[in-house]
Amino acid sequence: MTETWGNRPFRVGVIGAGSVAALHLDAAADLPEVEVAAVCDVRLSAAEQLAARFGARAYADHTAMFAAGGLDGVLITAPHSLHAPITVDAAAAGLHVLVEKPMATTLEDGQRMIDACATHGVQLAVGHVLHFLPSVREAWRILRSGSLGRPVVITERRTARYERGSRPDWFFDPVLAGGGILMNVGTHSIDKAQWLGGAAATSVHGYVWNQPGVEVETESVGLLELANGVRVVLSVTGTGLPFHDETEVVCEHGALRLSRRDGLWTYRGDEAVQVVTPEQDDIVAAFREQLADFVASCRDGRAPAVDAAYGQSVVATALALYASAERADSARIPGLNAEVAA
Ligand SMILES: NC(=O)c1ccc[n+]([C@@H]2O[C@H](COP(=O)([O-])OP(=O)(O)OC[C@H]3O[C@@H](n4cnc5c(N)ncnc54)[C@H](O)[C@@H]3O)[C@@H](O)[C@H]2O)c1
Repeated sequence: MTETWGNRPFRVGVIGAGSVAALHLDAAADLPEVEVAAVCDVRLSAAEQLAARFGARAYADHTAMFAAGGLDGVLITAPHSLHAPITVDAAAAGLHVLVEKPMATTLEDGQRMIDACATHGVQLAVGHVLHFLPSVREAWRILRSGSLGRPVVITERRTARYERGSRPDWFFDPVLAGGGILMNVGTHSIDKAQWLGGAAATSVHGYVWNQPGVEVETESVGLLELANGVRVVLSVTGTGLPFHDETEVVCEHGALRLSRRDGLWTYRGDEAVQVVTPEQDDIVAAFREQLADFVASCRDGRAPAVDAAYGQSVVATALALYASAERADSARIPGLNAEVAA
């Protein structure tokens, strides 16, 4: 059965016709309850090219797109620090919002987004798509079932090439991107650790470093304490290493390993079980389910699976890691250690 928005599909517009927009819109094309109605990009040719695939209208300015009407909601896939002003404009135009991660680059911007959407009675969902990826979702289900006992320690390690030229230039602009690999890729890792760990971080210790000549950090590490006492070791680095995306969760009675290369494994004593194979991890399906959840939340007036308060918590954790790195507030070990050869 085709679900409809009233008597017709939910009409979405996308703002930012770059690489992730194509994933969102391919997902939309698979959902009969969604119609791609408009695409906007400051590079009009990019908007036109993507719009043509869906028979949608193209715009170079989101305010013109909103003024033209004919939309129920928007997907915001523009550079990070533009998420807030575009969300505020969308809310004022009465449009529901699914905004890409990171939700914002400052907590003040995030709050402005939350306030604007509340004032105008529209939904604000955040695109932490890992909540819809089969292996991550299954890991979450196993951890919440309690079969391994409570999580104790999480090790989250991810690499992504982060030299200039590896991605569009704005990712290296501290104002537009709000940071480097930690704000961009690391917010996926923070999300994964917080969601699987069962709570948001309440204290962190961070360190960041950037390759000479790059204005944003290219390497980051952190130690996080979640509100429920779970400790997280986080490493998100951008130089040299081949691709790696792996999470280990040590629990009271066993452990779980989530790997983009090897799938999802659980361990109890000598027993190792592969629960999800890498082939079962379907990112296209994850984007489709994320969009279906967003549209259903707008239609039913219920919270989306990943709401704005949670999106803010991920940004807050990233910003706290930067603040800790800036203060360099390591606990010093007095005495002998400075002299020991290792
Ligand atoms: N969920 C995921 O797995 C995932 C993957 C990639 C990117 N992202 C996120 O998606 C967002 C976009 O990333 P991307 O990789 O697609 O970047 P991109 O550079 O490929 O696309 C961004 C687009 O926004 C356009 N743009 C810039 N200013 C604009 C404005 N004022 N109005 C309209 N368009 C404007 C740019 O011209 C560009 O085409 C970021 O928040 C990023 O972190 C998420």
